[in-house]
Amino acid sequence: MLEVEGIHTYYGLSHILFGVSLDVSGGEIVCLLGRNGAGKSTTMRSIMGLTPPKRGTIRFKGKTIKGKKPYQLARQGIGYVPDNRRVFADLTVGDNLEISARKGAGTVTWTKESVYEFFSALGHIDSRKAGFLSGGEQQMLTIARALMTNPEFLLLDEPTEGLAPLIVEVLEKQISKLREKGLTVLLAEQNQKVALGLSDRGYIIDNGVIRYHASIDELREKEEIRKKYLLV
Ligand SMILES: Nc1ncnc2c1ncn2[C@@H]1O[C@H](COP(=O)(O)OP(=O)(O)O)[C@@H](O)[C@H]1O
Ligand SMILES: [Mg+2]
Repeated sequence: MLEVEGIHTYYGLSHILFGVSLDVSGGEIVCLLGRNGAGKSTTMRSIMGLTPPKRGTIRFKGKTIKGKKPYQLARQGIGYVPDNRRVFADLTVGDNLEISARKGAGTVTWTKESVYEFFSALGHIDSRKAGFLSGGEQQMLTIARALMTNPEFLLLDEPTEGLAPLIVEVLEKQISKLREKGLTVLLAEQNQKVALGLSDRGYIIDNGVIRYHASIDELREKEEIRKKYLLV
């Protein structure tokens, strides 16, 4: 479904990604594991057209998407949950969801009601201003907003970062259910436990280079590789 081939991405003159390649097939959850600063978010931003790569190709469902604008990619079925959990603080939870609603390309049509069924914690706070939410609630809301665009493919950038263990568990459970809802996911994570628990396959990125890729079972076994690239 997504094929990234040899992309090189820069911020100004700083060369950040060095020939990153990865692919995600329909129905998979694939993780991009790496320490802080490894290049996970830059990879996500490159795919989403926010920091377009200077070299390399990106294809979505067989068609090149390099150079497309973020809104065009959203229309083609790519949902993006950035790492900053930005919500409209002055709007209620319900309004945050409603303004995100799009027809989309996905097989499941998400509505406010089905999103509340999925994240029941949000259903209870429909009329609360988003600026008053806890970190976990904000994260659920950012994912929920992406779902309201009815994507086929979801880029999830460190959804569990900095959250309490109990909330992390809730998110893990719901993210794993996204697959059953027909979504394909690329998940950026520093948290090995979360990534290994959720994904079918994984890539390890370090200093802007993919160092390793394997099935989750293999990654679980290869402790020395995880130590080398993931321990701080
Ligand atoms: N806007 C930016 N301008 C310049 N450098 C950046 C910018 N954002 C990130 N970087 C640098 O790019 C590298 C990769 O960052 P990032 O992709 O955010 O890593 P990760 O998401 O894996 O923590 C880091 O060295 C970081 O300092
Ligand atoms: Mg990041």
